[in-house]
Amino acid sequence: MKYKIFTYGCQANEHDSERIAYILEKLGYTATDDEKEADFIAYNTCLIRENAELKVYGHLGAIKKLKREKPEMILAVCGCMMQTGPARDVIKEKYSHVDIIFGTGNIDKLPELISLHKTTNQIVVDVDSYIDLDNGYIRAHDFTAYVNIMTGCDNFCTYCIVPYARGREKSRPINEIVQEVKNLANRGYKEITLLGQNVNSYGKDLGHTFPELLYALDAEVKNLDILRFMTSHPKDLSDELIEAMSKIDMIAKHFHLPLQSGSTKVLKEMNRKYSSDDYKLLVRKLRDKMPDICLTTDIIVGFAGESEQDHLDTIELCKEVEFDSAFTFIYSPRPGTPAANREDQIPEEIKSRRFQELLDAIYPIFNKKNKAELGKTHKVIVESVSKNNDEMLSGRTFSNKLIHFKGNKELIGEVVNVKVTSHTSFTLEGEIID
Ligand code: SAH
Ligand code: SF4
Ligand code: F3S
Repeated sequence: MKYKIFTYGCQANEHDSERIAYILEKLGYTATDDEKEADFIAYNTCLIRENAELKVYGHLGAIKKLKREKPEMILAVCGCMMQTGPARDVIKEKYSHVDIIFGTGNIDKLPELISLHKTTNQIVVDVDSYIDLDNGYIRAHDFTAYVNIMTGCDNFCTYCIVPYARGREKSRPINEIVQEVKNLANRGYKEITLLGQNVNSYGKDLGHTFPELLYALDAEVKNLDILRFMTSHPKDLSDELIEAMSKIDMIAKHFHLPLQSGSTKVLKEMNRKYSSDDYKLLVRKLRDKMPDICLTTDIIVGFAGESEQDHLDTIELCKEVEFDSAFTFIYSPRPGTPAANREDQIPEEIKSRRFQELLDAIYPIFNKKNKAELGKTHKVIVESVSKNNDEMLSGRTFSNKLIHFKGNKELIGEVVNVKVTSHTSFTLEGEIID
């Protein structure tokens, strides 16, 4: 029996796919890339922006023919889209070839749901959410792993669907996380990424803080090369965290700090709870303690009510801060979120024009930042054979920059030293040195 999982969302979504894979393998399934030979297909959905949702509907429409030819094949839809009623209804009404619908909180129930479907031959819908942050899941790689430290989000940024899909913030106890990271490190994992929608507020519900967790990991985990975390929220970035990060060697000197907008007015309307000056101060503090820190961000263009001046403020802030890289998004109104109901939505053509203006402003900065890496030697974790050239390997510097270099594929999963020899705005190229 074969399975295939489509993954549409963020790291939390990817990690859920790993957990689904683990369960399926325990049931005797093996992975395949070819959906035609799959006996079980899971669509692990995301609804952060409209295009993520449309992709899922597209794929579900396209699979209909195969399902008709092979009715015993089981189609399951899960992930964040299935955590909301309207998207679930669309699946039930328009995609009746779907067999199982489950949520993000009950992945562990999948074996039950599969057997229930097999015995009844009816659609099985189960989105009860009990929190299942378990240990021991298989990982997609054998050198790098995600570890959930919390689920949900309490921030309710006015554009964002995540709190509705993933529920309230809930942290996992420190000792459980430490144990899981220790186990993974002992099994030979070199890189671990701690996951949460806002890791900076980790532990609030338990009377702990994120820096406390980091110190506990530093004290207990001895054989790990790189510790990363995703994602941070500026409003919860404390001096203690900056201090912990600068002191603990294994923490990657990379900070992903979503800005969203450079306009204090827009930030307020997004319910982000910091001003553009607050943001700039945080960047100064980070760079004071860690001058070589790699700084990346998320930016939304064309939020409801964004004026030309607000847009220029974002560009201005980007020029001032000089990010190493950024994920940029055109604002996509998500039904059910407060901002989607606003009447002052920005017309698509203005959003696209502003998006292009932002890219034109930030790409040269990425280029300049990468140029400054020329001649430097970085520790790199080797991830894979390069997509475009099979003589080349791809990896990430500890500061999280993508780098390509010549090498034997047996090095995948190893940490090597690479000297940077050339660059583009988005990647580095280099050569391995002893
Ligand atoms: N919890 C994380 C990740 C949220 S989703 C965080 O707070 O950073 C990742 C990014 O998607 C967000 O940072 C935001 O930039 C973007 N995003 C979220 N909702 C969006 C929407 N409705 N339209 C466009 N971009 C959005
Ligand atoms: Fe969404 Fe804001 Fe929570 Fe991030 S912090 S998941 S952007 S509500
Ligand atoms: Fe992630 Fe998308 Fe859900 S970004 S939390 S998979 S809505």
